[in-house]
Formats: sequence, structure tokens, C-alpha cells
Amino acid sequence: MSQPSSLLSLLTALLLILPSALAATAGCGKTNTITSGSRTMTVNNKNRRYIVRLPSNYDKNRPYRLIFGPHWRDADYQAVDGGSAPYYGLKALSNNSAIFVAPDGLNKGWANSGGEDVTFFDQMIKALSDDLCINEKLIFSLGFSYGAAMSYSLACSRPNVFRAVAALSGATLSGCSGGTEPVAFYSQHGVRDSVLNLSMGKQLRDNMLKRNGCASKNAPEPARNSRQPHIKTEYSCKEGYPVTFVAFDGDHVALPNDQGGDGGASSWTIPEVWKFFSQFT
Ligand SMILES: *[C@@H]1O[C@H](CO)[C@@H](O)[C@H](O)[C@H]1NC(C)=O
Ligand SMILES: *[C@@H]1O[C@H](CO)[C@@H](O)[C@H](O)[C@H]1NC(C)=O
Repeated sequence: MSQPSSLLSLLTALLLILPSALAATAGCGKTNTITSGSRTMTVNNKNRRYIVRLPSNYDKNRPYRLIFGPHWRDADYQAVDGGSAPYYGLKALSNNSAIFVAPDGLNKGWANSGGEDVTFFDQMIKALSDDLCINEKLIFSLGFSYGAAMSYSLACSRPNVFRAVAALSGATLSGCSGGTEPVAFYSQHGVRDSVLNLSMGKQLRDNMLKRNGCASKNAPEPARNSRQPHIKTEYSCKEGYPVTFVAFDGDHVALPNDQGGDGGASSWTIPEVWKFFSQFT
């Protein structure tokens, strides 16, 4: 007599569990062998290094976000993992809800010759997914300068792997193989960037606007040396593929403030990017 209703509640329970179970990687439920620290792997016969940071209360049954932070030019993975704002400041805001990875580029950059850096990311994602509990629908990359270029390249080559990427003062330095499918995209650029000029940053944004089917919209910019606050433009795009662009009165700076300089750990960039990434659940 109670069978139909218990069957119904079983089905309801299954339907509730299913979406996250489908997105959970093979590492869910396993006792992890990967712990926080530096690791190596071989990619196309080259030795590659990366740092992994697990939540301090890592739970093998909870599918976590996975956030990559490729470094800028002439830096290395320790620059992203350490300093005053590790992982471009996101780690401090994440409240143990994400696994962070700082990969190390070859020759202190991300030339991505023949796609070798994309292959490095493929292999890291495979190794991490097999061992750790990750929500495979919530994989992100965020970087500054060369690291922004690498994140953009991942959006081109792996649109179905990355839920969103963020490019801080980037350009197409790491190539764009593929580059037709939509990926949620956050970018920001200084109006007086003397290393990778504003037009280069807008080129990334405009490519993503096209791919994500966004309606055109005026994106105002603060005047150079005006000390005007940054200006954020949110575009209306294909459902699930938003694009945000922020223009600021500054030079080539990862974490700017609104006084024309470097805001470090108190930069407005950190909550903006976290808000952009954490809208996806
Ligand atoms: C951090 O996460 C814990 C549990 O996952 C939650 O209880 C707590 O409210 C969160 N804190 C903030 C500031 O979001
Ligand atoms: C930006 O830099 C590119 C590459 O160096 C150059 O071709 C272009 O003219 C520059 N654009 C502006 C507006 O300075």
C-alpha cells in the first residue's frame, strides 16, 4: 500500500542526486593520494610542474570547483601560489569551496607551442579528476597577462571543459585553436596598459562576444589618468554564457585599485571575479 509513495520518493531522491552525481569525477569517494603541494608529470616527454591546494577540510565526498591560476610572464607557479593574494586573491574568498592549481609554464611563459600547454592542462585535469572529488561542470581558469592569454587559449580549445575563464589584461599570446564555441568570459583591461594595449584586450572580449551570441552594447571606459573608478559592462548573451568586461584607469596590473595603481589583496578585481565564477553552481 505504501509502495507507490516510497517508489515516488525513491525516484525523487534519485532525481535530486543525479545532476551532481553525473558531474562528480572518479575521485569522489576515494581516499586521495594527491595532497597540497608541488607535483610533477611528463607531458610530451617534458617534465611539467604544478602546485595543488586542497581545502583545509577536504571532503572526499564533496564535488569541488577546480580553479587553475596560470602565472604571468617571467614568473613561475610560486608567484601565483604565494604573495599577498594567492591565486589572484580567489583562494581567500573561496571559503574552502574550491581546489586551486598553479601550473608552471615552460621558459616562464605560455607559448603553447603545438598545443603542448593545452595538453598539460588536459593531463592535469585527468590526474586530478581520477584522484580528487571535483565537479567536472565547474572547472575554471584565471590568469594575468601571459596567464590570461593561456586562459583564453583554453576557452578556445576546451570550451566543453571550462565553465568560465577570466582574463586579466590579456592578449592572444598563447593562440586560439578552435575558438568557435561559447564559454562564459570575464575580462578586464587598463586603458593605459603599456605592455599589452587596450585594443589587444578588446580583441579577446570581442571574439567571445561573437561566440557567446551577445547583443552589442556600449562599453564605456574611464579616461586615462582620470582616477575615475573602473567601469563594468555586462553583456546579454546566450543563456549560460555571460560576458563581463571591466575597463580601469591603469597600466598593466593584475589586481588594480581605483587610484591608478596596484590594489593587491584589496583590489576590486578579486570579488568581481569570484562573483563571476561562483554564479555557476
Ligand atoms: C563557509 O562554508 C561553510 C560550510 O561549507 C558555511 O557553513 C559557512 O557559512 C561559509 N562561510 C561563508 C563566509 O560563506
Ligand atoms: C596595440 O598593439 C598592437 C601590437 O603591438 C599594435 O599593432 C596596435 O597598433 C596597438 N594599438 C593601439 C591602439 O595602440
